[in-house]
Amino acid sequence: MLQDNNDIMEKMMIKARAHSNIALVKYWGKKNIALNTPAVGSISLCLEALYTETGVLFDPELERDELVLNGRPATEKERNRVSAFLDIIRRESGMKQAARVESANNFPTAAGLASSASAFAALALAASRAAGMNPDGQSLSVLARMGSGSAARSLFGGFVEMHRGEREDGRDAFAEPLYSADYWPLHVIIAITSEASKKTGSTDGMELSRRTSPYYKAWVDSSEEDLAAMRGALAGRDFQKMAEISEYSCLKMHALAMASNPGLIYWNADTLELLHWVRALREKGTPAFFTIDAGPQLKIICPPEHSAAIVEKLSGHPAVKRTIVSALGPDARILGA
Ligand code: PMV
Repeated sequence: MLQDNNDIMEKMMIKARAHSNIALVKYWGKKNIALNTPAVGSISLCLEALYTETGVLFDPELERDELVLNGRPATEKERNRVSAFLDIIRRESGMKQAARVESANNFPTAAGLASSASAFAALALAASRAAGMNPDGQSLSVLARMGSGSAARSLFGGFVEMHRGEREDGRDAFAEPLYSADYWPLHVIIAITSEASKKTGSTDGMELSRRTSPYYKAWVDSSEEDLAAMRGALAGRDFQKMAEISEYSCLKMHALAMASNPGLIYWNADTLELLHWVRALREKGTPAFFTIDAGPQLKIICPPEHSAAIVEKLSGHPAVKRTIVSALGPDARILGA
């Protein structure tokens, strides 16, 4: 009987899949914490190999939201973050019921890879649909942004731009697709240097930088220029230019974080070692560049025909625990629809 009930629940759940993404022009800093609006725009690539699948069922029998993450009951902190997000959906849709949410990543969460982007994009899509809403891409991106800034970008495949927006209510702070994945096939190699979880999450790190880093204003003021340059590099499929702007944006973000007080150092010695390794490789003629998020893993971007040789070289490198290779991925979608 219990099994039957589970089967029915399983059938009625609205499920969505969203892919992770990696920013080439980085987002760091919030304009409004409550609305989770970014202080700067960003440009990212969608990662085919890494995704989250999330099922949502609003159920009148439930007294409070339930969350199962990667097959185990979530912690109270995780549940509260999802509940706060579901409250936004309930407010906008008029839905009064609590929800059962089941979410799983196809990649090991312990690998220290950000999962909030794909997680909140999948949740925004599944929960809005389960609550009877049918938002367009823009409104869905605004919703996902309120769960996690980078999630706004994870609704779209290929090359994506997030706008910081100007409005007080955050309605114009959304992401939109620039080009689909087949416009310019690229591979992203994730070189994992450490599986330990990070000490300072992005929200706390961004706030510390905004409050204490003397470089914060310069970072915000120079962001539009980086975005324009990256749009130009993408329009011309100019790999060298894309490499230069990406490494510049990445190092500028980390310099900003390091100049916070106390300084935020997301790298380990292996991260630094690999960053030099990628630059040396490029100097010797291999088209490849790096980017690094708020953690110690190095992401290497290259044309697909170069990825096998780079992975081969990396596999013998003492700084690398393991690698994951990804092509560019598709839009988030409802599963089974
Ligand atoms: O979306 P959040 O709050 O996890 O912040 C993402 C911040 C970076 O990954 C460091 C940069 C980015 O643009 O993705």
